[in-house]
Amino acid sequence: MKILAIETSCDETAAAIVEDGRKVLANIIASQIDLHAKTGGVVPEVAAREHVLKMIPVLEECLSVAGCGWDDIDALAITRGPGLVSSLIIGTETANVISYVKGKPLIPVQHIVGHIYSNWLDVESEIEFPVLVLTVSGGHNELILMKGHHQFEILGETRDDAAGEAFDKVARILGLGYPGGPAISKIALEGDGSRFKLPRAFLEKGSLDFSFSGLKTAVLEVVRKATVPGDNSRNRIPNSQVVRNNRLDTVPGDNSQNENTKSQFLADLAASFQEAVVEVLAEKLMIAARKFPEVKELHLAGGVSANLRLREVIQQKLEKLSQGMTFRHPKSISYCTDNAAMIAAAGYYLYQLSPDKFRPNSNIIPTTSFEI
Ligand code: KG4
Ligand code: ZN
Repeated sequence: MKILAIETSCDETAAAIVEDGRKVLANIIASQIDLHAKTGGVVPEVAAREHVLKMIPVLEECLSVAGCGWDDIDALAITRGPGLVSSLIIGTETANVISYVKGKPLIPVQHIVGHIYSNWLDVESEIEFPVLVLTVSGGHNELILMKGHHQFEILGETRDDAAGEAFDKVARILGLGYPGGPAISKIALEGDGSRFKLPRAFLEKGSLDFSFSGLKTAVLEVVRKATVPGDNSRNRIPNSQVVRNNRLDTVPGDNSQNENTKSQFLADLAASFQEAVVEVLAEKLMIAARKFPEVKELHLAGGVSANLRLREVIQQKLEKLSQGMTFRHPKSISYCTDNAAMIAAAGYYLYQLSPDKFRPNSNIIPTTSFEI
């Protein structure tokens, strides 16, 4: 069964065709990163206008790459929410029209459920339930127990900032641009992750919830201290650096100071921050794995699953745990961040559960709610 899916929940205009929930025939993503880098984050109105421009070309490219015509497509899947409503509506309206005109069943998919199914893409071996899923994105962060297809039990979630959001905010503080995750993980490679002692919020004993806002504030404090004039400690950075609007900035003059000092400071702080996030995420996953020893697989999903250090630390901890669980993360970096292939996979398994529920439809309305 071939499903064509559309995803426009935030700042990626995406369409994909996936066969039987796994085989990716085309996965087209028009990213708006360059556009939003100028403003340091997504401006909803700007994102929506870009979706309008990109939607049809992305769909045409998707069909062409997969070598499909509309007659080859068995059903459509669409991200209904949560996300930016002005972005979601471009995707839902497009899907509504195609479904109605071409007479294809339309399957609405919850965005986070989509991320969860990114681990089914391009996988050849059978995935065995129960599965423990750690979803880590810009807008959400959950630990989920999955006993079967589309059976989700939320074990823990973020109480404030999601992990990706923390990466984005800290990158902003350090003046590294948008999106923060890739920028931080890149410079962290050159840094010493043990230089700054940053807090790890494990919350109450046994809690599977997350909290990253304190960590972000701790990073800001380190930066503030490092720019206080007159402090000659090792953590001082050049006098040309100031904190303006909660962000590290360079002022004219005094540029003779050693640029290397600043680069090393940023790399060490980025690495220390990354270690703090990774340690909490990986350890919470292990607490859950110990609590549910019947679990067969651990899955990592969402934009932050692209982080190589996070994958590495989970793998190391899992080996120590030696409970024989399989660890998976999406097979391609393009399946980690927002994409439509994951929506097609989630849609396929929803359809398998109740095919009669999905018919040609022209009335899917976007939602900001986590419930669908
Ligand atoms: O899943 P996603 O594309 O969008 C949401 O549904 O929120 O996740 C985007 C998030 C951003 O916060 C971005 O900074 C983060 O994923 N991200 C990363 C990396 N690549 C993307 N975070 C850490 N390390 C990365 N390599
Ligand atoms: Zn997402």
